[in-house]
Amino acid sequence: MGDVDWTALRAAALAAAARAHAPYSGFRVGAAALVDDGRTVAGCNVENASYGLTLCAECSLVSDLHMSAPTDARGRPRPGRLVAFVCVNAADEVTMPCGRCRQLLWEFRAPEMLVWGPSGPLPMTAVLPEAFGPDDLS
Ligand code: THU
Repeated sequence: MGDVDWTALRAAALAAAARAHAPYSGFRVGAAALVDDGRTVAGCNVENASYGLTLCAECSLVSDLHMSAPTDARGRPRPGRLVAFVCVNAADEVTMPCGRCRQLLWEFRAPEMLVWGPSGPLPMTAVLPEAFGPDDLS
């Protein structure tokens, strides 16, 4: 975990923000994450004229996690686990995930996942304390 290249990850998030579709809010968001298999995945916000249908950047990132995943012998995706995550706006200011997106990220976190916060890395367990997750259904 100590070898996360946060500068590169943040640059990937900023590049993703440039691909946003945000004509309604004007707030372009990009997210990027390092996966435990070495991939970097990213996403941008995609707004909709029906405002409530907007996809946050984190939603797009989770889709990328699956779409870029290697497949096993049966053709099933092996999405891996998120180990480091950063989200920025188009001005390269750190943007913390909204509540819904914290839950989305929780589903795919590695146990030691870090989120870049306003003053550096935070454990995902601090970003979404006492979380509900897959284990609660078993
Ligand atoms: N947004 C994200 O993409 N991620 C978040 O975690 C917070 C909000 C987007 C949604 C909307 O397009 C814009 O920011 C303003 O809320």
